[in-house]
Amino acid sequence: MILAPLAVIPDAQGRGVGGLLLRTGMRLLRDRGIRLVFLAGHPGYYLRHGFVPARAHGFTPPFPVTPEEAWMVRPLEADAPGGTGGDVRCADAMNKAEHWRE
Ligand SMILES: CC(C)(COP(=O)(O)OP(=O)(O)OC[C@H]1O[C@@H](n2cnc3c(N)ncnc32)[C@H](O)[C@@H]1OP(=O)(O)O)[C@@H](O)C(=O)NCCC(=O)NCCS
Repeated sequence: MILAPLAVIPDAQGRGVGGLLLRTGMRLLRDRGIRLVFLAGHPGYYLRHGFVPARAHGFTPPFPVTPEEAWMVRPLEADAPGGTGGDVRCADAMNKAEHWRE
């Protein structure tokens, strides 16, 4: 599943809201049996939440993501992202190149 985009209004940033949204989103996905969560976002922020670059694990994004490391994945189970890889597709609402540019 893709969990993005995520944004917190500037006045409310830095108070843990982004982290709470991320953890809650991942818990809801885990409860639905989802094993991998993907997103395109600032690597510096998401690395601290357990995400790693997804291309290194063989997963390609629906549209090009720049920088490449911003396309990230995190396993929701104890296992690693897995050796299978593959093309990740997104929901129709996000299926336009302009939604994948910063
Ligand atoms: C990224 C974002 C969602 C974080 O939300 P937030 O509520 O401010 O996040 P939190 O309060 O949980 O975490 C704040 C911490 O993350 C760090 N952080 C915020 N943005 C960061 C970034 N782009 N890169 C690295 N670290 C970042 C802050 O410095 C802070 O660090 P600290 O805890 O050591 O002080 C928010 O800054 C935002 O909406 N940014 C604009 C939209 C965006 O870039 N979204 C991500 C792409 S989908």
